[in-house]
Amino acid sequence: MLVNATKMLQDAKAGHYAIGHFNINNLEWTKAILTTAQELNSPVIIGVSAGAAKYMGGFKTVANLVKNLDEFLGITVPVAIHLDHGTYEGAKACIEAGFTSVMFDGSSLPLEENLAKTRELVELAHSKGVSIEAEVGAIGGTEDGITADGEVADPEECKKIVDCGIDFLAAGIGNIHGIYPANWTGLHIDALHSINDATGNIPLVLHGGTGIPDAQITAAIKEGISKINVNTDCQLVFAQATIDYCAAGKANPTDDNKSKGYDPRKLLKPGYDAIKAKVKEKMELFGSVGKAC
Ligand code: 13P
Repeated sequence: MLVNATKMLQDAKAGHYAIGHFNINNLEWTKAILTTAQELNSPVIIGVSAGAAKYMGGFKTVANLVKNLDEFLGITVPVAIHLDHGTYEGAKACIEAGFTSVMFDGSSLPLEENLAKTRELVELAHSKGVSIEAEVGAIGGTEDGITADGEVADPEECKKIVDCGIDFLAAGIGNIHGIYPANWTGLHIDALHSINDATGNIPLVLHGGTGIPDAQITAAIKEGISKINVNTDCQLVFAQATIDYCAAGKANPTDDNKSKGYDPRKLLKPGYDAIKAKVKEKMELFGSVGKAC
């Protein structure tokens, strides 16, 4: 059931759990995430970056793929189709293309410009029933050219962007996309506490969900994180499962002409199963299992 992400995230915040946002890259990923959410009776957010959407055939193709799969697979749990780290133009295009949720990432813009564009997009998104996430610029992060720690958002700036009317806020608390460096110092739970205090009841978003120790995820949820974005973890398990299948010679041509392990439906199956297992593990950790109503 396609919905915007507002209610599922408000419920998560009130219930002290988080909804997984899982990025998609193709049909297999989309099916794996949707079917796992259904099996676990969990709401879910299907995220797509502009780059992945371009690879998959554009925003309309992605919106229609998710909608049609949702219908074909008989998915009844709440599913939001969400633009990840959108530009101003990208967010507008996704609202037009039938996404139910968008992120406008104006964090690299001067604050006043970010606020003005966010305000404008909030109005447009809400006029179409679409939920909207935004992000403010951040401080810290790189020292002597070495990024060992993610950026930490300023609570006052967070409050300003929340006042633009957004539905959920991405706030840096030391998190980083991709694989964390060995000398990463961990999430700044104290900073999250201040941001949560400054922004009231709005659901907060944790990007860079891959590789954060479970205890820190649990602590972050306790301090107001209600949406956790995961991409690299699914990429890693998908790649490894495919590598193992090929390394075992299962994709090689065979004499019997029966097994046909090179058939793409067979070749991609181990990766599909691996994503399902990873999504299940994350939903259990985030506490969203059984929360679809
Ligand atoms: P990871 O790739 O680190 O899991 O982060 C995903 C993300 O934050 C997408 O916005």
